[in-house]
Amino acid sequence: MRAFEYRGGALHSGEVKLEEIARAVGTPCYVYSGDAIRSRFEEYAGAFAGMPHLICYAVKANGNLAVLRLLAGAGAGFDIVSGGELFRVLRAGGEAGKTVFSGVGKTEKEIAEALEAGIHSFNCESAGELEVLSAVAERLGKKAPVALRVNPDVDAVTHPYISTGMREHKFGIAMSDVEGICEEARGLKGIEIRGVSCHIGSQILDFAPMLEAAERMVELAVRLRGRRFAIGTLDLGGGLGIAYHAGQSGPRIGEFARALRGKIEGSGLEVMVEPGRSIVGEAGVLLTRVLYRKRSGGKEFAIVDAAMNDLIRPALYQAHHEILALGERKDTARADVVGPVCETGDFFARNREIPDVGPGEYVALASAGAYGFSQSSNYNSRPRAAEVLVEGGKWRVVRERETYESLVAGERV
Ligand code: LLP
Repeated sequence: MRAFEYRGGALHSGEVKLEEIARAVGTPCYVYSGDAIRSRFEEYAGAFAGMPHLICYAVKANGNLAVLRLLAGAGAGFDIVSGGELFRVLRAGGEAGKTVFSGVGKTEKEIAEALEAGIHSFNCESAGELEVLSAVAERLGKKAPVALRVNPDVDAVTHPYISTGMREHKFGIAMSDVEGICEEARGLKGIEIRGVSCHIGSQILDFAPMLEAAERMVELAVRLRGRRFAIGTLDLGGGLGIAYHAGQSGPRIGEFARALRGKIEGSGLEVMVEPGRSIVGEAGVLLTRVLYRKRSGGKEFAIVDAAMNDLIRPALYQAHHEILALGERKDTARADVVGPVCETGDFFARNREIPDVGPGEYVALASAGAYGFSQSSNYNSRPRAAEVLVEGGKWRVVRERETYESLVAGERV
């Protein structure tokens, strides 16, 4: 299903006209299609049906409580990387027993919280972390379920900031060190090694490196079983890319998941995946209003009321987001689309053919449902945007726009 489309000349999400939301809630404002999010999750679930599997949605992509609640209701587990994300999952009604904790820098406090909550497992990234995990678990009289996060040394072919699975990256344990680390960990009373995991990067459009990683990981699981480690799960992380450019096709979730399935079925391993972007990315847009048009230095600018603090992906990764007028229009202009923040890096498009919108008109920045709001900040003391969820023909605010008071909450003069 398409999360957003033009009907009768106006951009809609299902039955809802986006301009109606922009007028009622104000801008900048994120809008998510709950129906699209659910259908993406179900594509994953359908492709793995009939074999043991757990789909752990990566909370970092979009941690809004309503989004988490919707996914929990659909049967999702969660991939978290902090105590704050665990708090969100539990607050939204997610199951701790279906939650995995990833990340290279878990603190003792976070580890203790996750043990108390009874999470599914910890994806451990170093020998040092195993020791800390074991010590904290023993102190609490528990045994920590562990999967070793392995660096399979494959090139994910994506933006360097979001590629994670090569030898020189900070993530995971080198493939050649895993067996040694497992042997040493036999002495650790507080942990139980039950699985292996990897995550080679994000916004990956070519499946081949992911399939290669899956093969290497199955072989590793077999070797570890040969050493009498009870490896039951293989977690392949997230990473499936989505369409950011007009004309690109959306994430091939079913095809991808079935290809993974082909590599794992028959190994007796339960497959786990941690998709973020491919579930929520195309299901969200950022609505913004044009404040001014100006010509300067021989260039044309459209200045909008959203900025890099709301959506940092263009500034940080040179990411492309399509710009759609909420009222369809055929006339275009070549312009830079920029925000009000005092930085030259505050742009959404450069020298791009965009709808010829003037002051007071609205545009949507497309494919902004993942790593949009979740990476937003208060830079320039800008209150963070509102978030709206559209479901079954109705919309509701699922996070209010911040106020000036929320900007200074907790500060002392
Ligand atoms: N699992 C782990 C261990 C991860 O590190 C990540 C993403 C995921 C799962 C989810 O990956 P996804 O399915 O969303 O590709 N801020 C960047 C993306 C950073 C991704 C970090 N890790 C962006 O806006 O492109």
